[in-house]
Amino acid sequence: MAPSMKDVAERAGVSVGTVSNVLNRPDRVAEATKAQVLAAISELGFVRNSSAAQLRAGTSRSLGLIVLDLANPFFHDVARGVEDVAEDAGYAVVLCNSDEQAHRENRYLQVLEEQRVRGVLITPVEVGSERLDALRRRGTPTVLVDRHDPNVNCCSVAVDDVAGGQLAGACLLDRNEHRRIAYVTGPLKIRQCADRLNGLRLAAKEAGLDPDEAITVVEMPALNARTGYEAASRLFRDGTDITAAFCANDLLALGVLRAAVSTGRQVPDDIALLGYDDIDFAADAAVPLSSVRQPRRQIGRAAAQLLIEECDNPITHAHQQIMFRPELVTRESTGG
Ligand code: RIB
Repeated sequence: MAPSMKDVAERAGVSVGTVSNVLNRPDRVAEATKAQVLAAISELGFVRNSSAAQLRAGTSRSLGLIVLDLANPFFHDVARGVEDVAEDAGYAVVLCNSDEQAHRENRYLQVLEEQRVRGVLITPVEVGSERLDALRRRGTPTVLVDRHDPNVNCCSVAVDDVAGGQLAGACLLDRNEHRRIAYVTGPLKIRQCADRLNGLRLAAKEAGLDPDEAITVVEMPALNARTGYEAASRLFRDGTDITAAFCANDLLALGVLRAAVSTGRQVPDDIALLGYDDIDFAADAAVPLSSVRQPRRQIGRAAAQLLIEECDNPITHAHQQIMFRPELVTRESTGG
């Protein structure tokens, strides 16, 4: 059984209150007494239970961050941005991965509330999470990350994914004059995936095309390289008439690239390829990947700044919705 503060007090020959003072108000304890207590702590291997102290004080110096997919480098960079700001403000970050599953997200929301984190940053799996709304109602500040939902009463930081889809469409339809494009995506219930498709459809209309004719949508159960490979293999096997593929993120695009290379297709000559996020691997791909870049670390920083501002100033805080604009990065995979 883990040693308690009472065990430390007995070993050092002082009261439990003196042990508490050494841990919380060391300036109030004589040096000799402090040394006795620290020696007892070391000998017993005592570790303070900060969550108990936080529960009593009703405060915590921890923030929860729930991301959709920890295997996606996009969220690594977002998390680094959150850490940049949290560390400077004296907060620790508890990182959770929902793996794009609502039941995992709900479990983490419960654990974070039980741990009394000061606030929660989250990229929700779906819009309108009842547990997330309840967390807010019970007084835990939350910020939506990489998500914009005008119906919720909280801060949010997102990227204009409709504009991102339009950038992708302009790259493929205007500059490179493709007329048959595949849109390879994850579940369209994920707001980012739907918005990127909407932007691509707008670009097709602006190019004078019928979006239903020009765009073949391939919706996969997840956004990773394996599902990208499977989607492209299906398109190639079915002989789908496409000369370009726009993917909802770079991982899908890397999977499409692998399928193209393994079937002897040349990128971009046989199929042009465009991703989204511009993760570090995009530039280093076998055929350097064109991508719609998201300001990943800035998204994390901005979200953490909004949350900490709300935690530290609950009375004067006013919610903000920050929307970044993506930018197009062209490389060899679109002939750039
Ligand atoms: O989580 C799926 C995608 O949505 C990520 O790759 C990133 O683009 C995010 O916006």
